[in-house]
Amino acid sequence: MLKEYDCWLQKRKIGLTIKIPDAVYVQGDSEIITQAAKEYVNGIQRLANVTPKIETKKTANSSLPKAWLGLISDMEKQALFSNLAAGAEGFVIKIADNNIYIAGKDDAGLLYAVFRFLSLLACGKIKDNFEISETPASSLRIINHWDNLDGTIERGYAGNSLFFKNEKIVYDSQRIEDYARLLASIGINRISLNNVNVRNRAKLLITEVYLEQLAELAAIFRRFAIRLFISVNFASPRDPGVLKTADPLDADVIKWWKECASVVYKYIPDLAGFIVKADSEGESGPFQYDRTHAHGANMLASAVKPYGGEIIWRCFVYNCQQDWRDKKADRAKAAYENFKPLDGKFDDNVILQIKFGPYDFQVREPVSPLFGALKKTRHIMELQITQEYTGHQIDLCYLPFMWEDIMNFDTGEKSIKDLIKGFAAVVNTGLDNNWTGHTLAQANLYGYGRIIWNPSLDAKEIAHEWCALSFGQNETAEKISSILLKSYPAYEKYTSPFGICFMVTPGLHYGPNIEGYEYSRWGTYHRANVKEIGIDRNETGFVNQYAKKNADIFSDPKKCPQNLLLFFHRLPYDFIMKNGETLLQNIYDTHFEGYDEVLEMLEQWKRLKKNLDNAVYESVLSRFERQLLNAREWRDQINTYFFRKTGIGDSKGRLIYD
Ligand code: GCU
Repeated sequence: MLKEYDCWLQKRKIGLTIKIPDAVYVQGDSEIITQAAKEYVNGIQRLANVTPKIETKKTANSSLPKAWLGLISDMEKQALFSNLAAGAEGFVIKIADNNIYIAGKDDAGLLYAVFRFLSLLACGKIKDNFEISETPASSLRIINHWDNLDGTIERGYAGNSLFFKNEKIVYDSQRIEDYARLLASIGINRISLNNVNVRNRAKLLITEVYLEQLAELAAIFRRFAIRLFISVNFASPRDPGVLKTADPLDADVIKWWKECASVVYKYIPDLAGFIVKADSEGESGPFQYDRTHAHGANMLASAVKPYGGEIIWRCFVYNCQQDWRDKKADRAKAAYENFKPLDGKFDDNVILQIKFGPYDFQVREPVSPLFGALKKTRHIMELQITQEYTGHQIDLCYLPFMWEDIMNFDTGEKSIKDLIKGFAAVVNTGLDNNWTGHTLAQANLYGYGRIIWNPSLDAKEIAHEWCALSFGQNETAEKISSILLKSYPAYEKYTSPFGICFMVTPGLHYGPNIEGYEYSRWGTYHRANVKEIGIDRNETGFVNQYAKKNADIFSDPKKCPQNLLLFFHRLPYDFIMKNGETLLQNIYDTHFEGYDEVLEMLEQWKRLKKNLDNAVYESVLSRFERQLLNAREWRDQINTYFFRKTGIGDSKGRLIYD
C-alpha cells in the first residue's frame, strides 16, 4: 500500500531479479559517498528486507561477491566497464558474476547511481549482465522555492513552507533530509529556498540574522550533493539606514555587495550564488538608475566571483502597467526585447533564467524566442511544477506531457533538449504529508527531475516509471499511468482554447474569468468581439523574433500548430480548422470533450478503489470531484461566452446556456 510521504521511494518487498550480495564494499569516505552507501543499504532494506553489511578497505573480506560502490577512477575492476562512458555527475552500473558495480564519475555521480540502481531494481530491470551508463544532459538542475519567511508559499498548493515560519527559519531536520533524498534521487543539484520576490525580513537572509541557520540547512542538502542559491533583492543596499542608492555602478553599492558576499560565503562556502528578479512586477532593478540588466547582473557577479558563485538573473522583465487600449504593445515580446540586445555583455558567471514561454507558465504557450536567439550568454529555462495556471493541485494535470513538447521544440538551429544545459522549476512541495497536495502531483516533481536529466525520455515512459515506483508493478499502476496521460490534454481542452491564455480568475489563477484580464494592466488580452478573437502577432512583430524557419510556420494560420493558433493569430469564428469544422465549433467541441474526459478519469479512479490505500483513494477522489466542478464551470462559461458573442449554437445540439 502506498505511503504517500515516501513518494517514489516506497518500502515494498519486490520480486528480486538478482541475488543481492550480503556485503557492500565502499571505496571513499567523503560525505556524499558515505551518504550514497547509506542510501544503498536503506534502499536494499526497503526493497528486499535484508541489510547488506558495509565493508571498507580495513574490514573487507575479499572472496565473496559484493556490491562495489566507489568512483569509476578508483574501482579495481575498471576494465569491466571500460566500454561504458560517463561524464560529470554521471555513472556506470554493471552486474557481473554476482557482483554489483555501482560507480560514479564523481561523488554526486555515485549518489545518483545508487538511486538509479534502486529504482531499476524496483522496476525489475536489473538482471545478470545488466549494464548501463548515464550522464545528465544538463549540468544545472535547479529547484526554486517561492517560500516566504512568514511560512506562506507564493503559488503554493501543498501546505506551508518546509523551511520558514513566523519570520524564522523553522524546520524539521528529518523532513529536510527526506526532502533532500527525494530531490537527489531524481538528480536535482541546486535549490533556492526563498521566494524570488524578496520582501521584508527575507532581505536579511544574506545577513548574520539568518546565515547560521541557513548554513545548517545547506549542510543537510550538501550531503545529497545539492547546493543552495539565495534569492536576493536588488535594492537591498538602499534599505533604511544603509545607502541612498542601489545603482549598480555606484562604488558604495559595489562595495556593499562585496562585503555582503564575503559574509555569506563565510557561512556557506559552497553557496551556488544569488537569484535575482529585477525590474519585474514592481521589484527594483537597474532600469531605475538608467542602467542595463548587464550592469546589474555583472556587478553582483563580480561580488560572488571570488567564491566561485554564480548569479542567476531572471528574464521575466516586462511592463506590467500596460494600457489595454494600446494595441501596439505586446507583452509577449518583452523578454527578447530586453535581453537579446545584451547578448554577450554578461560576465561568465551570470546565467539568464528564461521562462519557457513568452508570457507566464500558461497551459499552452510557444517556446520563448529568446531560446536560440542568445548566442553568447549562458542561459537556462524556467518551468513551473507548482500548478499556478494548471489547476492548483486540485485538478490533475500531468506536466511532463507538455515539457516533452518543449524539449522537442526546434529553435531553428537545435532542439531545446540539445541546446539548453540547465533548468530551474518553481516547485510544488510544502508541509502537506504527501508533499504535493494532490498525491498524483508527485508525478510532476518526479517527472521534472527525470526529463531534465534525460530529455529524450517521453512523458509516457516517465509516467510508467513513476507509477511502478509508487504503486508497484501491477495493473493498478498501469491504470493510474493512463489516467495521468489523459490529464494534460483534458485540462487544456476545458480551459483557454487554442493557446489564447489568461482567461483565468485574476490574481488567484484558478477557474475561469474570461474577460478577467481584458481591461487590466497586465498586457494579456484576447480582444474577443462578435466576429473574431486573438492577437495578430505578425502585426505586433512578435513572430519575427523567431528564427525564419519557425517564423514561417507560426506566421501562417494554415501551418501554425493548432494548439497555438490563437496565440499567434486573430481569427474569425468561422475560420476552418484542420478537421473541417469552424474555430467556434472546435471551441465548443474541445470544451465538451474536456469535461467528459474529467468525468472519465473520475470513473476510472473509482474503479481502482479496492486496490488502493483508502486515505489515498479518498483524497484523490475528492480532488477529482472538485476538478469536475471546475471543468464544468470552464466548459459552460467558455461556451456561453462565445455563444453570446456569436449567436451561433453548437452544431451537435448540446446544451449551451444562454
Ligand atoms: C507570476 C506569478 C507571480 C510570480 C511571478 C514570477 O507572475 O503569478 O506570483 O511572482 O510569476 O515569476 O516572478
